[in-house]
Amino acid sequence: MPRIEKLNNQIYIDRRIALKEKILAQYPEAQNGIILLFANFEQEQNIFKQDSSFYYLTGINEPATALLLDLADDTAIFYMPNFGDQRKKWVKIAINNDEKNLYGFTDIAYLGEPCTGYQCHPFFSANEYSNLLNRLQIYIDQKRPIYTFNPQRNSAYLEQRFILQRINSLINNFAESLIDISALVAQMRRKKTTAELELLYKAIDITMESHLAVARMIKAGKYEYEMQALIEYMFIATGGSIAFPSIVASGKDSTVLHYHDNNKVLEDNQLVVVDIGAEYNHYCADLTRTYPVSGKFTDRQREIYEIVLETQEFIANTAQPGYWLANKDQKDKSLHHIAQEFLEEKGYNTYFIHGIGHFLGLDVHDVGDYMQPLAPGDVITIEPGIYLPDEDLGVRIEDNYWIVEDGAICLSEELPKQPDVIEEIMRINN
Ligand code: GLY
Ligand code: MN
Repeated sequence: MPRIEKLNNQIYIDRRIALKEKILAQYPEAQNGIILLFANFEQEQNIFKQDSSFYYLTGINEPATALLLDLADDTAIFYMPNFGDQRKKWVKIAINNDEKNLYGFTDIAYLGEPCTGYQCHPFFSANEYSNLLNRLQIYIDQKRPIYTFNPQRNSAYLEQRFILQRINSLINNFAESLIDISALVAQMRRKKTTAELELLYKAIDITMESHLAVARMIKAGKYEYEMQALIEYMFIATGGSIAFPSIVASGKDSTVLHYHDNNKVLEDNQLVVVDIGAEYNHYCADLTRTYPVSGKFTDRQREIYEIVLETQEFIANTAQPGYWLANKDQKDKSLHHIAQEFLEEKGYNTYFIHGIGHFLGLDVHDVGDYMQPLAPGDVITIEPGIYLPDEDLGVRIEDNYWIVEDGAICLSEELPKQPDVIEEIMRINN
């Protein structure tokens, strides 16, 4: 399959139109406003990850770029660093000006004067951004509001906020002109379209194949990183990439939620929690299975495993529009609290130490307001777990679900999770 199947450019143009409409509906003064969106920066030693909301609204994977939408005259100017011919010698050829119609831009312009290298960094100079800064100063002096990603309360949009701070140090009254639209875009991103679901499905498919392969490889004497290597090989060999650090956690570390040292040798009688996700064209999967290293669950492991599986099945059958992932003020319709109650009856609620699930999409922990109930189009994980460090025993089972009018459809149902079937798959190598 092709490595990247890009969505049609019109999808991004339509999303920007929808965003403008939402902003105009919420902020009457926006008729005179500006929408300003920034891409993430690239660093030589890290794999570049585009800001997901920037990607959602542009479909463009170029670092250090920016998009300026003028709501008064409906123009869209896409800004690129002025690398001259440097960048195409080092990395790749950036977007050309003659592609502007393709992307629905009025113009493609340089951010400013020529840059010193082939990468731009968050400590950019005023000269490197002079064109954008001059234009912004004019808008600010005209008292036009600037709509951008600038949430104040959490760890989201760190690079965006860094860029905003940098710009604020270079021009006057910038910070005072900013209005945060991260919640509006999160609301848009929560509802997945069919085209997005197809990409999510591909990410899930790749992840399921990796689970099946790793289940056949698990054996005492092998190292956790050997499992990781197979998983990540499969992700890349099938056109995907790695959505988050792969968790291959055996023995006591099966009780450590985000263990990813992956450096221990597997031993018989242990469980190994494999929590992995491929990314396909920016969309993420997130699937967890728990395997017995010997290929056969002990009685105690099976007892705990079955409770976790029953919890997941119960929650998956309950999930539907109108319920919340977690809402402490509506416990009878909160999947997290329902799972806690279910586990309490079994005596294990205090060993379920994380949330029941999260939204899934362009980010593995996707944006979305948890205080808004589930609605058709949401994609979520359901991932109960029981963690017993005193017994070196942790079990988590995680699948991905699409919320529809009357319930939740499991997108990863082809990946076995019944303990007998897991043992059957593993028999081949033990
Ligand atoms: N897959 C890791 C997590 O959901 O936190
Ligand atoms: Mn998860």
